[in-house]
Amino acid sequence: MTISEILREKVLRALESLEVALPDPLRIQVTKAADLRFGDFQSNAAMMLAKPAGKNPRDFAAELMGEMEKADVGELCEMTIAGPGFLNFTLRPEAWADLARAQWSSPSLSVVPVDAPQTIVVDFSAPNVAKPMHVGHIRSTIIGECLSRVASKLGHRVIKDNHLGDWGTQFGMVTWAWKAGVDETQLGKDPLQELLRLYRTASDASKDNEEIREECRAELVKLQQGDPENLAIWTRCVELSRKGLDKIYDRLDVSFDHWLGESDYNEALAPLVDRLITEGHARESDGAIGIFSSESAKPKSDPFKVNRDGEWEDFPMLVKKNDGGFNYATTDIATVQFRAEEWKAEQIWYVVDFRQGGHFQQLFDISSRLGYEQIKLVHVSFGTILGKDGKPLKTRAGDLPQLEDVLDDAVKAAQEVVDAKSRLESAEEKQALAELIGVNSVKFTELSHHRMSDYVFDLEKMVALEGDTAPYLLYSYVRARSIFRKLDEEVTLEAGNLKLTEKEEVHLVRMLSRYSDQIHQVLDDYRPNLLATYLLEVARAFHSFFEACPVLKAEGLQRESRLILCDLTSKLLKDGLELLAIPVPERM
Ligand code: ARG
Repeated sequence: MTISEILREKVLRALESLEVALPDPLRIQVTKAADLRFGDFQSNAAMMLAKPAGKNPRDFAAELMGEMEKADVGELCEMTIAGPGFLNFTLRPEAWADLARAQWSSPSLSVVPVDAPQTIVVDFSAPNVAKPMHVGHIRSTIIGECLSRVASKLGHRVIKDNHLGDWGTQFGMVTWAWKAGVDETQLGKDPLQELLRLYRTASDASKDNEEIREECRAELVKLQQGDPENLAIWTRCVELSRKGLDKIYDRLDVSFDHWLGESDYNEALAPLVDRLITEGHARESDGAIGIFSSESAKPKSDPFKVNRDGEWEDFPMLVKKNDGGFNYATTDIATVQFRAEEWKAEQIWYVVDFRQGGHFQQLFDISSRLGYEQIKLVHVSFGTILGKDGKPLKTRAGDLPQLEDVLDDAVKAAQEVVDAKSRLESAEEKQALAELIGVNSVKFTELSHHRMSDYVFDLEKMVALEGDTAPYLLYSYVRARSIFRKLDEEVTLEAGNLKLTEKEEVHLVRMLSRYSDQIHQVLDDYRPNLLATYLLEVARAFHSFFEACPVLKAEGLQRESRLILCDLTSKLLKDGLELLAIPVPERM
């Protein structure tokens, strides 16, 4: 039980002995205090219940407090009454010390698993093959990896699936340009770049040329019908892309359980479209096949309706093109079917750019019409990364920056900081540290922003040692560990010797004790930034403690007690950073 749960129990017990009628016990709460100056926790009980009992809330709070005193709650915390009748609780240092002892002795750092674990598919990253991953994919890749780790940590069964875009229109284009002249030498040297060149060649050539556009489309249809030559080109493209992607995922510490791309669902598409037609969900629309509204919701909340000039019109989800090809949407419906039937998914999280919101609303609606209404389908959407000019991040040439280039730039910026500040000696160690800081600064910056907000990509700021940055957190970890290297003798620490005397110690423990709650909160609304900002708060509390309370210079039990706090803090930072997929260095 957490402290707030224990206190809530005590409040309910006291209300019982006061014989107060509880119309709705769930509404009696003990929450984290909004303002730490007034206590650690607070309860709304007196305010909720005074009126029905015909009492003044402050008087009633005093009565409640008296009753709790009788039950020895005073040993656990000091109680006061505030404002219109809040009951505030300030935990006694000994109670905090108990919590810290338990947390330090617990392999999970007192993280409580969920009561009912579920099978959750996390659909993230999913770049398009033959186009290099660009910086927009970074948000999905990083947020998806973090949410997967958090869900696993809390006990869910997580399946990470990379739904590669390996079957779309771009293959018609790449195949067309491949046949017009692939450069095999370049393909051997830098496959992703050569594939990108082919894609751009086709894209430029077809821009104002309907004939070439038609030829590209024809190449795609041939591929989808199993033409051996096109299939061979496609297979090579996918293999080469996969290699390039693996390299980037390695660098980012990201991994998948499955790589089931769009092409893996090809066989399922024709029968699916037949079913959609037979069951009356889909019909012909301008030569193509589309899914239409079930007409069961108001147009305003119907994803298959759109308002044009004040009139509600049909807005079908296309599942078969007039040339016989299938759509992105068709594959996504087949994917829901597969994940439900083969994997028994209970939830599917799609970590995808907000611009695809309409697509997912339609997908979720049709999925439930097809009988998957019990699966929780979530679009975990996110905003845009901006350049310093406040516009979507672009390269000087006006293209979307390639993820790899962005990481290289970040490492370069980190190298400068490392060269100026690091205490490491060898050039190799410094280089490894710069790689770690560069890549992980990009990741941390992503995770510390609310996923829906656009943020400005500012390399210097993100690799700085000061500020809400990855290096600041990594340094906090290193600082907490380095104390152990400075000890002149081997020490054995014992939980029983932890004692909190200074307010900085109490505050640090108070922050550490929130770990489990914070991790759970991440999943309430799929927000890694809650964990990222929490870890920053822990780091700040640690530095205040470290500055106010000498550790090596302390003696005897006090020294041991503070060493335990350093150890606990470092373990928690390492564990929390691992949930963000950020590894820690031992020295900096
Ligand atoms: N490949 C798509 C893109 O880059 C993202 C796919 C997301 N996942 C999905 N099941 N639709 O836009």
